[in-house]
Amino acid sequence: MNIREILNQRVRQAMDAVGVPAECQAMVAPSKKAGFGDYQANGAMGAAKKMGTNPRQLATDIVAALDLGDMVSNLEIAGPGFINIHLNPLWLAEQLQVAAADTRLGVAADAAPQTVVIDYSSPNLAKEMHVGHLRSTIIGDAMVRLLGFLGHNVIRQNHVGDWGTQFGMLIAELEEQQQSGDIQLKDLEVFYQQAKKHFDADPAFADKAREYVVKLQGGDAKVLELWEQFRDISLSHADDIYQSLNVKLTRDDVAGESMYNDDLPVLVKDLEDKGLCVEDAGAKVAFLEELADKEGNPSPMIIQKAGGGYLYATTDLATMRYRVSTLKADRSMYFIDARQSLHMQQLFILSRKAGYCPEQVSLEHHAFGTMMGEDGKPFKTRSGGTVKLAELVDEAVERATALVSEKNPDLNAEQKAEIGRKVGIGAVKYADLSKTRTNDYIFSWESMLAFEGNTSPYLQYAFTRVKAIFRKAGLTPEQANGPIVLHESQENALALKLAQFEEALEQVAKEAYPHVLCTYLYDLAALYMRFYEACPILKEGVSEEDKQSRLALCRLVAITLSVGLDLLGIEVMEVM
Ligand code: ARG
Repeated sequence: MNIREILNQRVRQAMDAVGVPAECQAMVAPSKKAGFGDYQANGAMGAAKKMGTNPRQLATDIVAALDLGDMVSNLEIAGPGFINIHLNPLWLAEQLQVAAADTRLGVAADAAPQTVVIDYSSPNLAKEMHVGHLRSTIIGDAMVRLLGFLGHNVIRQNHVGDWGTQFGMLIAELEEQQQSGDIQLKDLEVFYQQAKKHFDADPAFADKAREYVVKLQGGDAKVLELWEQFRDISLSHADDIYQSLNVKLTRDDVAGESMYNDDLPVLVKDLEDKGLCVEDAGAKVAFLEELADKEGNPSPMIIQKAGGGYLYATTDLATMRYRVSTLKADRSMYFIDARQSLHMQQLFILSRKAGYCPEQVSLEHHAFGTMMGEDGKPFKTRSGGTVKLAELVDEAVERATALVSEKNPDLNAEQKAEIGRKVGIGAVKYADLSKTRTNDYIFSWESMLAFEGNTSPYLQYAFTRVKAIFRKAGLTPEQANGPIVLHESQENALALKLAQFEEALEQVAKEAYPHVLCTYLYDLAALYMRFYEACPILKEGVSEEDKQSRLALCRLVAITLSVGLDLLGIEVMEVM
């Protein structure tokens, strides 16, 4: 059920009937202010301008031609030609009744399912995952869940950095430690520092590291085996984090840089043959006029270094071919830091020019801002180092567990641990997802763990409050089948919000701004609280009809909250 879509269609049909040109849109949207109906159609003004007629008269004609059956109770024309649409509470109740009987809450799978390739998380394996990987991991995972729920064929791609010169140094270090029998790979960060120190201090070691890079690229079996060992350990670190963050990525989703190694020379030759890259001071470079600067200098994209080495850009071009030709992507989404915007633009433009990605495949870089500390600078440890993701996760769970224990001391130890985990992880994720993706945001334990305001704990708590009603009533939610009848304004407002779930999901699917879903859930919880204050459910004197209807609304709220939070990768609990 997507009310906005239905209204858009019907209003557009009425526009057809009164001769409005096809390119004019109905422009139906939920009303922003109370008293202006539930939805507004604002297309009459633009259409009248185009047709050179009076907008208010045109709106009147559209309304006369509009066939909405029993869907609306009232239509009125306001101001210069806004059409205010008041939904019929009986119709709305009926829609919710249908949704309540459906595990998908009446949300239809997309009629035209796409193959969507989602590139997210994608850490470099030379080091341990740090906070810089958090946003891509969390936002990408929410999009994976949401697009999957809407029926798309989602292919996760963890484009890990598992290739390049650094690995020569790391596997040389690994080999030495193995020989001395003292392997210290528990902490990849420390291991990396050791290797680097070794590399800088010992010329023989540095030579060996360089030799290993060449051997690695040449496919030397012994060096490859060392590389695989290191890669496996590094991936295990990442696996642990994905698991504790409740993120869907597994080993099967790893499609790292190394995978494209064989294709790189082929690709460079192809670009040269097509005249898209030329030799420049020994390097091979694609000059892109499309991204020329003010003076008209084209933007250079280096495809191969002077010494013959390949770069991040080369791998990404090969990756593009794979995702389009082998994975058959209809839509290719990249969740990568805004600082890589130029690289992504270059990649997209050159891929189109080279024919690696036909026009009908949608290429989307969904950039995001930086996670800042409360001092307004990029988030760091107290001593100024990068914050490891593993430590951040532990701290979140620890803080949340302490908070939960304090709020509800009656819980047993096992419950405290389980609820603390869900609250802690949920808080970190939601703090990120609820902010407009493209902005920087300030990471604050205090605000993300607050039980009031637009936070995950608030929504999880709202869920437990709804569930508590069923326990009190001695019913399971499944027993609350209504029928739904809407009398009070708070019931109507809540019902309308419930009916708009699919609209919120569709918007997120299209634009990849998960905060839209967060805002929706937050608004839903707030409307529920208002409904709960105004409309008694189990109190004496409440009619059986109202009781059953209100319980059915509660049931819908509980399912919508849990499904919505699940799409954000956040778990709910019965009590907290
Ligand atoms: N490994 C890269 C980094 O840590 C991110 C890779 C993103 N994906 C891509 N296809 N370029 O910066």
